[in-house]
Amino acid sequence: MRKQVAVIGAGNVGATLAQLIVQAGLSDVVLYDIVEGMPQGKALDMMEASPLWDVGVNIRGANDLKDISGSHIVVITAGAARKPGMSRDDLLNINAGVVRTVSKGIAEYCPESIVIVVTNPMDVMAQLCRVTTDFPAERVMGMGGVLDSARFSTFVAEELGVSPQDVDALVLGGHGDRMVPMPRYTTVRGVPITDLLPAGKISSLIKRTRNGGAEIVALLKTGSAYYAPAASAFQMVRAILLDEKRVVPAAACLNGEYGIDGLYAGVPVVLGSKGVERIIELQLEGDEKDFFEISVQAVKGLIEKTGLMIDH
Ligand code: LAC
Repeated sequence: MRKQVAVIGAGNVGATLAQLIVQAGLSDVVLYDIVEGMPQGKALDMMEASPLWDVGVNIRGANDLKDISGSHIVVITAGAARKPGMSRDDLLNINAGVVRTVSKGIAEYCPESIVIVVTNPMDVMAQLCRVTTDFPAERVMGMGGVLDSARFSTFVAEELGVSPQDVDALVLGGHGDRMVPMPRYTTVRGVPITDLLPAGKISSLIKRTRNGGAEIVALLKTGSAYYAPAASAFQMVRAILLDEKRVVPAAACLNGEYGIDGLYAGVPVVLGSKGVERIIELQLEGDEKDFFEISVQAVKGLIEKTGLMIDH
């Protein structure tokens, strides 16, 4: 039987993610939104594109959370996006209600599913989803590191005049303004960028990466990025569905790793059919350690505000 992915929120990120999944013929999709008719309309439109995309999977729209039952993976994209001048953290109160409601529905209708949280502030929303669903840690993760790393790769590639395909970037920490791009682990065909670019240049690329989401918000004015966020979530969905064991940075619930307990933070993980199958612990040095700590503390501050700490 074909597997099914539920995409919660049929806005720009959700609909683009659904398109990527259908276009790749990866799995069936249920596209859920509270707006009546909208997910059904987008789903029908994509179904009608399937002869042209040469794929045979099904996509349907839904306004009732019980219609997501049977999904192997649920991706939460629902919630408000940033407007110019807003930080991801400003979305906390608006989006917490949405993610809590959706997470209750996931626990009820897809109790065995793996959940990828995209809604911002992503690390806090991942923690909220975990607390609400009470799923094991390996089945709730957040998408942020893949996107931030893709942006860092893009900027490094542009600077060096090489293909972004050949740049392997790593960004850790929270998916917020204090995220931690890691130059030592960012390589061009295995060569660290610290050997290829002067420190000042690397600093400016790090700054642009940290501001990557806001740069797009400032240009779009009416919303935030969606092509790269959807592509990032797609990479994670595919890794899980196909049991690829891909190594990607994702927000995972740490249980002592990196000296952190019961808190979501962006770290390298192995993604396979069980979800987060392993957390890879890097030996951070000097500044890396400090910046990672600052980033995690920023997420922790928001989580404590919402009373979402997890006791193992
Ligand atoms: C961004 C938003 C989606 O980074 O968090 O573009």
